[in-house]
Amino acid sequence: MKKLDKFYLKTLEERLEILKENGFIADIERPKLPLEKADLMVENYLFNQNLPLGVALNFEIDGIKKLIPMAIEEPSVIAAASNGAKILGNIATSFDEKTMVGQIVVTDIGVDDPQSTFNDNYNVLKFKADELTASMRKRGGGLKEIWMEAFSDDKDDFVSIYFKVDTCDAMGANSINTLLENISPLIEEKFSCVVLLRIISNKSKDSLVIARSKTPISKLDPDIDKARSIAKRIEQASRYANLDLYRAATHNKGIMNGIDAVVLATGNDWRAVNACLYTYIYNDSENITFATWKFDSDNDILLGEIKIPMPVATVGGTVTANPCALWSLKFLEEPNAKDLAKIIAAVGLAQNFAAIRAIVTVGIQKGHMALHARNVASQAGAREDELDELISKLKLEKKISIDKAKEILAEMRKS
Ligand code: MEV
Repeated sequence: MKKLDKFYLKTLEERLEILKENGFIADIERPKLPLEKADLMVENYLFNQNLPLGVALNFEIDGIKKLIPMAIEEPSVIAAASNGAKILGNIATSFDEKTMVGQIVVTDIGVDDPQSTFNDNYNVLKFKADELTASMRKRGGGLKEIWMEAFSDDKDDFVSIYFKVDTCDAMGANSINTLLENISPLIEEKFSCVVLLRIISNKSKDSLVIARSKTPISKLDPDIDKARSIAKRIEQASRYANLDLYRAATHNKGIMNGIDAVVLATGNDWRAVNACLYTYIYNDSENITFATWKFDSDNDILLGEIKIPMPVATVGGTVTANPCALWSLKFLEEPNAKDLAKIIAAVGLAQNFAAIRAIVTVGIQKGHMALHARNVASQAGAREDELDELISKLKLEKKISIDKAKEILAEMRKS
């Protein structure tokens, strides 16, 4: 893997060659979503809205070194994830249950005690739901639980019947929605009610992935006093984010930079992931932040933890329809849904670490401006052999703009 050193300085073609030489990709073809395929994915299709996809380096997850594809428009994010991962070292993960829940909500309930009706009919409902999820059971998943809850407002009484299903490596929306639609008539009959709606839920609080890091603080700074001060400030920033929603929103946004970029790269439904994560924070988590940091000052170790639901898929739907998503999954050595969730959690943790470390020390502008200078230099028309000189000169300027870059470039070319 030595050749990955200074990967960002390589040309576009060299980067793919290096990945091929290291066995990460079989050929240097860039994938693309053909117009005809995209036309089948959405309605009134015109063209693809592209996002840059880059690769985050230096990750070690459960003892295995990994490169991680990230699709994102924001500069600095991939560099920050890579730096964060390098400092954190191994990230240990776990993910036990992967389930999705669907619900049927009913009104105009004709029975006196819906809970007793539910209990009396539990076996019938379970038998039918098992029958309707037989294909998922064959794949190692299937129905896990059925329960009900009653809700009321000043106008109506509602009952919701929930079906928790192990959807294996698929997101499972189609299978669950089919189950719900087919079992609704039985529910109407047993509860003498009217079905109001039936749909998969984007809350999946039990599908929790955990990623943890344990980093000797000597990796934060060679000077032990400075390292201790940084570790203490990272912990303080983490605790503070749990006190103030203004900060929590940004703390979590930084984590979402990493999470969404991998979710997008692998063709997953980022709206579902976001809805799921925010519902989790709102209701089921003891914290209002996805990740937390503690400084174990007795042992000079920084401890990081992210604990989040992560309803992603590696088969079905748009994941396999999009050649770019398939490329990323192949690049990740075809993980199953749980392994992909672990990778995503690890990226979220490293991203959060890199952001907090920057904002409690030098700030984010330094790194950001370096990348900004690079973008501006290339937009100003600098050739490959002019880039480094122009970037160094731009960094000396108070304000980096394309006009200024063009002016410096003209000077450089004159001399
Ligand atoms: C910027 O996209 C993300 C950060 O604001 C996150 C943070 O403040 O923790 C740097």
